[in-house]
Amino acid sequence: MPYRDMREYLGVLERAGKLKRITREVDRDWELAAVTRTVFQKIPEAVRPALLFERVKGFDIPVAVGILGGSGAIYALALETEEERVWERWRDAQAHPIPPVLVPDGPCKEHVLKGEEADLRAFPHPVWTPGRDPSPYITAACVCTRDPETGQQNVGTYRVQIQEKDQAGIYINVTHGGARHISKNEAAGRPTELAIVLGADPVVGLVGVSTVSPSTDELAVAGGLRGAPLEVVKGETVDLEVPASAEIVIEGIVPCGGRRWEGPFGEFTGYMGPAGDNYQFQVTGITHRDRPIYHGYMSQMPPSESSCMRRVGFEAPLRHHLRGLGLQVRDVHYPESGCAAYIILISMKKRFEGEPKQAIWGTWAFDPRHGKIVIVVDEDIDIRDPFAVDWALSVHMQPHRDIHIEPDTPSAPLDPSIVPAGVAHHERSRMLSSKVGIDATRKHAYPEVALPAREYLDRVWQQWREYGFD
Ligand SMILES: Cc1cc2nc3c(=O)[nH]c(=O)nc-3n(C[C@H](O)[C@H](O)[C@H](O)COP(=O)(O)O)c2cc1C
Repeated sequence: MPYRDMREYLGVLERAGKLKRITREVDRDWELAAVTRTVFQKIPEAVRPALLFERVKGFDIPVAVGILGGSGAIYALALETEEERVWERWRDAQAHPIPPVLVPDGPCKEHVLKGEEADLRAFPHPVWTPGRDPSPYITAACVCTRDPETGQQNVGTYRVQIQEKDQAGIYINVTHGGARHISKNEAAGRPTELAIVLGADPVVGLVGVSTVSPSTDELAVAGGLRGAPLEVVKGETVDLEVPASAEIVIEGIVPCGGRRWEGPFGEFTGYMGPAGDNYQFQVTGITHRDRPIYHGYMSQMPPSESSCMRRVGFEAPLRHHLRGLGLQVRDVHYPESGCAAYIILISMKKRFEGEPKQAIWGTWAFDPRHGKIVIVVDEDIDIRDPFAVDWALSVHMQPHRDIHIEPDTPSAPLDPSIVPAGVAHHERSRMLSSKVGIDATRKHAYPEVALPAREYLDRVWQQWREYGFD
């Protein structure tokens, strides 16, 4: 049964022992982020809980963090499955999207605020990198926009800097759906309508941060993930459909040519992301549920909620894509140490020489922002074991033959190795970077591995206790 809304999902997390309620009052200007960071630093992923800050100083609105990407197990719970089956859920949802259904009304309209009443500052947006971010940010924004040519909606997660009562700055990478829609509208001299959705059914958050083909309605993929259509309602001040059960919906426009100085912001790279001239968001209305629950993501230095969501969310679609090219790919891994973006590991059954290069190109074609370093290994190498990957790189790869450098590819503009700090992130010098593909598969016959023959190891394991071990 799909979750009715985020509240029902929080109950499931709690019953699974994956939600910690924090009853002590916290300050959203520094403490909430510092507590969340400490949870990520001190509590191993296997037992890490999501957090519900029940008392946020100065507000009567609790804040939920880590509820989608506190760990791989939490991500799987959001999809009502086990970690090993996340991949199947994504594959089925993309193959069988279920379009949303429009309903006349929904809980997200329990309070409708327009004009003077629509005040961004009424919500406990946290400061996520205390001492470094200039102001509070919305991080779990599911930003809905509509393609002015096809009429199709997009949902993407982009950082939103709270600047004034009704003004915010939004950073959207030029390759993302929201930016494509804004640029089409601006070419025709029109503003772009946006709806920032917070705290919808968890699948909406998951599609918001995942790469879905631009020709597919992401809310339909969300329906596919939950196995039932998502109920949507019409916005109050914008011609967009938003999830009916959302906790908070902030509606507004990016005026044609509207830009504001936005940032810097602690980014998923582990460094402060640069400020720049980014989109101006002008609020036109806010709707919310009775006693809303605010939802945020913790990003910044990996491992973080952001890197967990990227890892789990990106691996399945890329594996699906590479298999669709006919490649016998066993596994795809975005290690969180590579910010779940810059390093991609692929294990595959190579049928002929050169095939790993097809996997490398296929990876870059799938999402040109990712895979600054793509490493392909044979299928017997466990790419989730860094030791095994280092070993394959050490003994299956010859640098002059197996390392392929591609200059001038589209960059992940937040990559701090491209240009010095202080170069604004709309600067063109940030737009290009290079990539490296490494074919670390075996290219010829190898000697036998230098381990005792299997039969000896099996025999020892059978009589293990006799050697005095537990
Ligand atoms: C926590 C988190 C924050 C993100 N923030 C941004 C952001 O500020 N700007 C951006 O362009 N992409 C950001 N992303 C990446 C996009 O959400 C992601 O690439 C998504 O697939 C874009 O969807 P779209 O192509 O449908 O717009 C973020 C991802 C995560 C997990």
